[in-house]
Amino acid sequence: MASNLLAGLVPSLYVRLTRQTGRGAGEEVPDDIAGYCMDSFTDYFDRLGVPRDDVEGWLRGKTALEYGPGDVPGVALLMLAHGAEKVWCVDRFSLVRLSDKNVDVLRQLLARLTPEQAARAEACFARPGDPASGLRADKLEYLVRPSGMSGLVGNVDLVYSRAVLEHVNDLDATYADMRRALRPGGVAIHLVDLRSHGLHRSHPLDFLCWPSWLWSLMYAYKGVPNRWRLPHHLVAARSAALQVDTPVVTAQLDAASVQAVRPCLDRPFRGLSDDDLAVQGFWLICRPMEGRMAGAAP
Ligand SMILES: C[S@@+](CC[C@H](N)C(=O)[O-])C[C@H]1O[C@@H](n2cnc3c(N)ncnc32)[C@H](O)[C@@H]1O
Repeated sequence: MASNLLAGLVPSLYVRLTRQTGRGAGEEVPDDIAGYCMDSFTDYFDRLGVPRDDVEGWLRGKTALEYGPGDVPGVALLMLAHGAEKVWCVDRFSLVRLSDKNVDVLRQLLARLTPEQAARAEACFARPGDPASGLRADKLEYLVRPSGMSGLVGNVDLVYSRAVLEHVNDLDATYADMRRALRPGGVAIHLVDLRSHGLHRSHPLDFLCWPSWLWSLMYAYKGVPNRWRLPHHLVAARSAALQVDTPVVTAQLDAASVQAVRPCLDRPFRGLSDDDLAVQGFWLICRPMEGRMAGAAP
């Protein structure tokens, strides 16, 4: 609770003290991080059903919004390299750092691109070709907002995130924010990780047993999982006037495991079905409902 208070009062000090990267505590080398960014990028288009050869055609001239890029905007750079016109990255915490290591990640990404893609990416740096000079704000704009909201209205074609929606402090507001940001015909794609992020004790779901008020007292300002399960995401997306494709579940617990934790669950999770509780991660793709904005009556 004391560290939660510190995170609430001085978030910048908290993220520096805990050396947060957004990718967990493990030590990684730039080559691995670049590989992770490449995989994240291709995963989005594979899931959207865009053939790899068509990604540049699909992205050309489009704008994108990324929630929670972590400490290196590698995926955003790849969007620009493949023809996106502009990318906004929004985060609740100021994590992006142009450390030597992260500059090396950006260099390794450039080395993995075709000459045309690399030229597009290099033109996006403040000093063309020099990742250490940072990115031009007219190409990649980093928005740090305590609310985590982009505040964009109707100017985004693609919204994406990976391992972020399970951390946002106000899930309903985040879906409404992405709905407002999207242009008609735009699409949002998210990979959500519902595991405990190391905050369980003896059962992978026992972090759902803490009373909500206590969970909030311990963690509200730290960006740890908000604990919302798949049904809440679906309701939040639909209430925000987003049409949702059938989610693709990426990991699941077995029925016996869910039964074992059921007796201790906190109130918001008691009414969930075994199948919903079993979901440990999912892909969600949503599109703006025509003629309806977030917050409008159904
Ligand atoms: C687990 S990290 C994932 C980072 C990156 N997407 C990746 O795949 O490595 C979660 C990210 O979400 C950010 N985040 C937390 N709450 C947020 C919010 N309300 N809005 C936007 N970003 C948020 C964190 O600061 C962090 O950058």
